[in-house]
Amino acid sequence: MTGDEQRAVRTVAAPAVHRTIAGIRQAVRGARSEGRTVAFVPTMGALHDGHLALVRRARAAADDVVVSIFVNPLQFGAGEDLDRYPRTFDADLDALAREGVAHVFAPAVDEMYPDGEVETRIAAGHVGTLYEGASRPGHFDGMLTVVAKLFHIVQPDRAVFGQKDAQQVFLVRRMVADLDVPVEVEVVPTVREPDGLAMSSRNRYLDAPDRRTALALSEALAAAGRAAPEGLDEVLAEAAAAFGDHDGIDLDYLVVVDPETFLPVDEAAHGPATVLVAARVGGTRLIDNADIVLG
Ligand code: PAF
Repeated sequence: MTGDEQRAVRTVAAPAVHRTIAGIRQAVRGARSEGRTVAFVPTMGALHDGHLALVRRARAAADDVVVSIFVNPLQFGAGEDLDRYPRTFDADLDALAREGVAHVFAPAVDEMYPDGEVETRIAAGHVGTLYEGASRPGHFDGMLTVVAKLFHIVQPDRAVFGQKDAQQVFLVRRMVADLDVPVEVEVVPTVREPDGLAMSSRNRYLDAPDRRTALALSEALAAAGRAAPEGLDEVLAEAAAAFGDHDGIDLDYLVVVDPETFLPVDEAAHGPATVLVAARVGGTRLIDNADIVLG
């Protein structure tokens, strides 16, 4: 960091950090009483440039930005990485200060779930059992439950999500529509490393060889895009072939879905579609996706 950048960091105001539901509610009420609009970015912390792109969109769209940092136990299954999920609160706060974020909501688990396991959950439905949901049973119910809770707590005008989690975005949008939640959902394109790897908090689990192997996902999506004019069979064949070029990767799913329904398309499909891919590299599960146009 240059001297100018260090001085700039020192002069930006740190976001107000709220640990309680009452605290963030009061702060948002205060903003609203001054006629300010509020945009919300829910995160689990370990922030990277992908998150900061969401924050910048939120800043452009509203007067005040609230970012939540909460590693939600409800969306992790047994044996998943809840305990080792990266927690980098101080660095996150510095990054959010540089982005001009007004408020950070960072509750402890017992602030969000004072009675332990919650009895009432949002059901993600059939699409919630497919792809990520098939590999991580209950994940999307837990994700929607915390997003619904956060929407009730923060009551933002709009909320910003990343396209990297395409199935999450689909399910959040559907929950908002089905339950008439008065929040505008905005989606920001996936931010990638220069070599194409989609940014993810879990990338920091990858050692150097795994990091190279992880490129299979973005290479598969690029191959799918090139093959799209030839139709579904060619897309699946070309994308699967990209995995053959790498050792030490377990493909979980590679599927082409209709963006309107999130159900798999068949060979007769033409027009816009989304390719979803998930794979395990070493001990790390990675996901990615890309929009294509089937010929
Ligand atoms: O995308 C995430 O980081 C999480 O699923 C979210 C939306 C913050 C809910 O815990």
